[in-house]
Amino acid sequence: MGYDYRPFSTDFYRINHLISETLSIGLGLEEQNAVTIDINKELDHIINNIKKHGVHIEWSPEQACTLTLAPLALRRIITNLLENAIRYGDEKPVYVNCECNKEMAFIEIMDGGAGIPPEKIEAVFRPFYRLETSRGSSTGRSGLGLAIVKQLADANGWDVQLISRPEGGTKAVLKLP
Ligand SMILES: Nc1ncnc2c1ncn2[C@@H]1O[C@H](COP(=O)(O)OP(=O)(O)OP(=O)(O)O)[C@@H](O)[C@H]1O
Ligand SMILES: [Mg+2]
Repeated sequence: MGYDYRPFSTDFYRINHLISETLSIGLGLEEQNAVTIDINKELDHIINNIKKHGVHIEWSPEQACTLTLAPLALRRIITNLLENAIRYGDEKPVYVNCECNKEMAFIEIMDGGAGIPPEKIEAVFRPFYRLETSRGSSTGRSGLGLAIVKQLADANGWDVQLISRPEGGTKAVLKLP
């Protein structure tokens, strides 16, 4: 009979890793300098990388949209929201749209999946919270994605919302002042 030399279960190590990941993101925020970037270029870069894996994303970048902000926080938020739209979007196309003026930008990510019941919208932002339908899947997800999104948005004074679309699916809206 083999002897298990580790004092805790694999789950313990996995959760420990996840917690420290979240903490490190939180603690790194104050150190992150704001830089002036073109949001459309940033979105284009992220989306083109995902498209290489054969994912259908509808996205047509318009004119430059320049804002001064923490770029890593933005990248992480967009990536987490896009990842959800793809994972829970029932393999239907994902639509991304960015509108901006001199003072602010609105980024929308829409999917055609089963959606989130309106009464669960608040809960899905909690750490480790996953809906019944996704909990059983063997994807090894942790339920931290949206908690990180919320934490990063709050720390930067951005607004993030999830909306159940009447025609089905979910719309994520990120407002950057
Ligand atoms: N676009 C979406 N459509 C339907 N359900 C969603 C969508 N986005 C999130 N959810 C639900 O909210 C839960 C929490 O999402 P969150 O991103 O925090 O965690 P996760 O995707 O399960 O894991 P992780 O992002 O940590 O890998 C998901 O498990 C899923 O049930
Ligand atoms: Mg996720």
